[in-house]
Amino acid sequence: MKTRITEIFGIQYPIIQGGMHYVGFSELAAAVSNAGGLGIITGLTQGTPEKLKQEIERCKVMTDKPFGVNLTFLPSLKPPDYPGLVQTIIDSGVKIVETAGYNPEKYLPSLKEAGIKVIHKCTSIRHSLKAQSIGCDAISVDGFECGGHPGEDDVPNFILLPLAADKLEVPFVASGGMSDGRSLVASLAMGAEGMNMGTRFIATKEAPVHDNVKRALLNASELDTRLVMRSLRNTERVLNNAATEQLLKKEHLMGSNIDFKDIQDKVVGVYPKIMLEGDMDAGVWSCGLVAGLIDDIPSVEELINRIMAEASNLINRRLPAL
Ligand SMILES: Cc1cc2nc3c(=O)[nH]c(=O)nc-3n(C[C@H](O)[C@H](O)[C@H](O)COP(=O)(O)O)c2cc1C
Repeated sequence: MKTRITEIFGIQYPIIQGGMHYVGFSELAAAVSNAGGLGIITGLTQGTPEKLKQEIERCKVMTDKPFGVNLTFLPSLKPPDYPGLVQTIIDSGVKIVETAGYNPEKYLPSLKEAGIKVIHKCTSIRHSLKAQSIGCDAISVDGFECGGHPGEDDVPNFILLPLAADKLEVPFVASGGMSDGRSLVASLAMGAEGMNMGTRFIATKEAPVHDNVKRALLNASELDTRLVMRSLRNTERVLNNAATEQLLKKEHLMGSNIDFKDIQDKVVGVYPKIMLEGDMDAGVWSCGLVAGLIDDIPSVEELINRIMAEASNLINRRLPAL
């Protein structure tokens, strides 16, 4: 399949694996790229330029296909060495960066000068237009369904994607709630030129996370995510668990008096415990509504081939027959 997204990134299929904290290691990124999609290493999981350099080198050993690095700009008490991480990406020859969170404008000139294509993740049309205006090559349009940070506007993809198609000139992928061939064909129908998946890729053989995490996704229904940190205007969609319930109770009790410090034990430093050790109640962790559609753990290649076969069947058989 050829779209502007496959052309820009030099990939076979218009399927991207979004950056995921403590999930987006080389094992997953390389598997996605080897299967014809675009795998992405999560920069902040590595944390320092030196560690990111090593992770990029590891990924290069596992794939000779294009892969990217995610750089998430979030409010932080101790900000990571962003300039150092950007320089590492440039020096290591990676040609694709997925940015998310705050406006990446400051780093665009050096990324572009190095010939790096930038796809910025946005949860609204106004942010997408801004990203386009500062020179991002593509947008990942992240609807309200998404795992992680859906923003504060709560607009789902059935509205967001057609709006993006009407307003944007740069190509975009649909993100949030994507899982199969139906997602891909629907995204294409609404004007996207591919799709980005997070949660679905966690339930794959190669995702280097504890089996408890994969099992939690198999057991979850579409009713099992919650929105936390709404009161701090830093909303995150997470899987419901004991930590989520405690956090929500605190938000409810404290209302607008709440401060990040009141909940940080449920949020800060919890990912290694959950993703690597399988301690499922150690804190809150991002998970999309799409968990309700996940009922197996295929290899990444099986998943991507299945998506493309389903998409082909829809495009060539079901739709023409209507
Ligand atoms: C466990 C998990 C961790 C995530 N961590 C990040 C992150 O560090 N940076 C980022 O830009 N997006 C992150 N995301 C968002 C994904 O890249 C992607 O945009 C989102 O999962 C898409 O929605 P979906 O889960 O419905 O596919 C994360 C998502 C999940 C599920």
